[in-house]
Parts: sequence; C-alpha cells; structure tokens
Amino acid sequence: MRETYNFCAGPATMPYNVLKTAQKELLDWEQQGASVMEVSHRGKEFIALAKECEADLRELLNIPVNYKVLFLQGGGLAQFGLIPLNLLGDKMGDGKTTVDYLETGVWSKKSAIEGSRYAVSNIVYSGKSEGYINVPDKNAINVNPESAYLHICSNETINGVEFFYDIKNCPIPVVADMSSNILSRRIDVSQYGLIYAGAQKNIGPAGLTVVIIREDLLGKASKFVPDALNYTLQAENDSMLNTPPTFAIYLMSLVLKELKEKGGLVEMEKLNHKKAFMLYSTIDNSRLYRNPVHVDARSNMTIPFTLADPTLDALFLKEAEAHNLINLKGHRSVGGMRASIYNAMPIEGVIALTNFMKDFEARYYS
Ligand SMILES: Cc1ncc(COP(=O)(O)O)c(C=O)c1O
Repeated sequence: MRETYNFCAGPATMPYNVLKTAQKELLDWEQQGASVMEVSHRGKEFIALAKECEADLRELLNIPVNYKVLFLQGGGLAQFGLIPLNLLGDKMGDGKTTVDYLETGVWSKKSAIEGSRYAVSNIVYSGKSEGYINVPDKNAINVNPESAYLHICSNETINGVEFFYDIKNCPIPVVADMSSNILSRRIDVSQYGLIYAGAQKNIGPAGLTVVIIREDLLGKASKFVPDALNYTLQAENDSMLNTPPTFAIYLMSLVLKELKEKGGLVEMEKLNHKKAFMLYSTIDNSRLYRNPVHVDARSNMTIPFTLADPTLDALFLKEAEAHNLINLKGHRSVGGMRASIYNAMPIEGVIALTNFMKDFEARYYS
C-alpha cells in the first residue's frame, strides 16, 4: 500500500489498485506494443474499451436506456455555460427565459452567476444567509414551471453540504452537478434530465467530464455551441466527434471495474456512510473540532472542520503531514480543514485521521 493518505478535494486520491494496473500497463497496453495513450481512439481496442466503460457506468448507476452517456472535456466549470448553451437553443439570451437554481454553496452560486449570461437565473432557494450549511427541505422546493430547468449541485465541495434525496417528479428537468459525489451511492437517474461530473474526484483523473443526458433534451443546442462541446453531435458520434481524453477514459474504466468488483454502489454507500460517521463522531465528541453543517445535510464526501483555537491550524497541518495525512488544509473561503473522503479513500485512512485528531486534541487542547 501507499505510505500517505491524501485528503485532497480534487484532483483526488485514486484507488491504489487502479494506479498499479495503469503502471503495469503503461508501456504496453493490450499487447499493442504501445501505451493506451499512444493508440488511436478509432482503433478497435480503444472503441471496445470506451464501450465497456460506458456499459459499466450504466450498470453501476442503473442508467435507463433513454439516456445518453457522453465523455467530454472541459471539466465541471465549463458545463456551467455549456448546459444553457446546449439546452436553451434560440431562447438563449432573450431576456425572458428563466433557469431555476438551488443555491446551496459556492459551486451552485457560481453556476447561477455564469448561467445568468444566457438566461435569467432564478434562485428558488438560497442558503447564503446561514452560511451554506443546509439544503432545502425536499417538500419545500417550489420551481417555476415555466423555467427551462432546475439546476442543483448535489455535493458542495467547498461547504460540505450534500443532497441525500433525489428531487422526485419535478415539473421541469433537474440538472445536477454531481462532480463530487457521483458513484458514492445509489441515485435514481430517471428523476434527472441531465447529470454531469468532472472526473477528478470519484471517477478518475482531471480532463474528463461525464454527462448523462435524457434523450428528449438533445437537439436543443444554440448555433453558437462549438461542435466539440455540442451534446447532440457528441451523442450522435459516441463522444468521438473529436479526440476524447483517452487516458482518462482508460483510468475511468479501471475505476469502474474495481467498483463493480467491490459490490457496486450498494457497498460503496455503506462504506462511505461508515467513514463519514466515524469522522463526524470524532468532530462532535470533541471540544476542539467543529463542523457547522446541519446534520441531515452533512456530506459523506467533503468534511470541512474548524479548530476552536485557529492559532493551532498550522501546527495541526504540520503534524498531520508528519503522520502521512496530507492535503487537509481547508478551502480559503471557509478556512480550517477539509477532509475529502471520496470512494478511493480507504477506511484505514479515516481511522488514521481520527486517531491523529484525538491525539492532537489531547496534547494541545485538553
Ligand atoms: C461541485 C463542483 N462543480 C464544479 C467544479 C469545477 O470543476 P472543474 O475544476 O473541473 O472545472 C468543482 C471543482 O472542484 C466542483 O467541486
């Protein structure tokens, strides 16, 4: 195993076995005499890999047949603009068309601001005044039925706020940024119009963006969308209109295989709950550590916490690193610490972190 546990928010730790396999196959993939990075995306071996990767994703997330899966580039942020460009068509920028947003943290706020260049952003819920520590009650989401869609961020990677429910029977399509919790638990894909995720947390390395889109939302792109980022054209071309991020797709395929071997999302969900529970319990049972998020909305992936005495922050980070617990510094807008415990963080990493936290408190804050 590796010596360190890496709590980075993203790009994040990758499963150890995936990295080992990639290392083994790096110089010669599928007896091609070349790396997977060095062969054509149109060759039969790579096409087979991409197809299998899609099939595995469909199986893991139970994606219905009337949804297309796209492997794109550009990351999560690019989608903040590409979604309106692809879904609003001629209505884009007409000054009347609205898009609804649930503003639960920094990322959904950013997407609403960027979206306002293309349509009127209608904030139907905002957690801003409380400091982004909650999600709306599932029975109290009132969308505008005339809006083009409702955008949510299912896990706020900076604030540590997560939706643990799917918004059911919404009268307008639900578009979800699942960049930081996709594949961490089961979801009901059929309740969404579009799901997107930058890969670099739970899927693989940066450079790949997965988009899952219901077929009836295709064919609505503005004429200003570049072809390579046009969902409809990419869906028609199996995401191979242009050169896809082949190495990232290869790593994703290894990640998905491992997830399947480990029992899929049922097992992942149990493990993620257990890891998060362990860390929140340590925080709640201490005098030194604090997480401000409402209990029902506390993320299983992203756990920010502050120290009651912030003058201990630097020492905490230094000692954590000496214990091989790395990248725990919190986001600059929230301060304190942030432990990102995605799928690939083994439970041993959380045990090591909680043991260290208890020991640190006993030594410096008892
Ligand atoms: C929830 C969420 N959405 C969007 C983004 C932006 O993604 P990218 O940096 O891939 O553009 C991030 C980045 O961390 C994120 O956590």
